[in-house]
Amino acid sequence: MPRPIDLMTGTATEPGLFELFAGIVERGEGFPQLPPLRTEEYAAMWGAATAVVIARMDGILAGASYLKPNGPGLGAHIANAGYIVSPEHRGIGVGRRLVEDSIRRAPALGFDAIQFNFVFERNPALGLYLELGWVVIGRIPRALVDQDALILWRATPGESGDAPPPPTRG
Ligand SMILES: CC(C)(COP(=O)(O)OP(=O)(O)OC[C@H]1O[C@@H](n2cnc3c(N)ncnc32)[C@H](O)[C@@H]1OP(=O)(O)O)[C@@H](O)C(=O)NCCC(=O)NCCS
Repeated sequence: MPRPIDLMTGTATEPGLFELFAGIVERGEGFPQLPPLRTEEYAAMWGAATAVVIARMDGILAGASYLKPNGPGLGAHIANAGYIVSPEHRGIGVGRRLVEDSIRRAPALGFDAIQFNFVFERNPALGLYLELGWVVIGRIPRALVDQDALILWRATPGESGDAPPPPTRG
């Protein structure tokens, strides 16, 4: 039987979370921050989040996600989200659980869409995002030395539970 993945809301002060994210930054995995991760950068991302969700397996930190406004004021109804899973817990569904949880959680926090601004073209999570309803709405050429980055957008379920249709080109 697969081991359960327990999700609960937390904060940026979760023990081990800074170190987990710092390791991801150190290896250049999916986030643009340069190593070594600075506490101000961590605070701006995880400390400023509207919601931090912690994933644990057997009581051990396995991963985390955050949801925060993608922009100020008129743009604040759109969320930005981030997902990290510890190297020891990858490939067993923790990331998928965190992404699905964000989609469900976002409307109650006042978000009607989730946008990713900088998905590395070769990020392993890209296939997951597309499978779960995100659409590519932009491409940033040569955003990284060796690859483009993509902007992804997805509406979150409305009160009826139905997601609005994807955007059309204006
Ligand atoms: C991306 C990340 C969150 C995925 O977490 P995970 O727990 O390993 O993912 P899951 O086991 O839930 O896999 C979900 C799906 O992601 C994809 N995936 C995950 N790892 C993959 C890999 N190494 N290669 C290809 N696809 C992969 C698969 O489509 C998988 O679908 P499946 O369940 O049908 O196999 C994790 O690798 C990570 O923390 N990476 C560093 C940070 C990062 O890049 N975050 C995303 C920023 S956009």
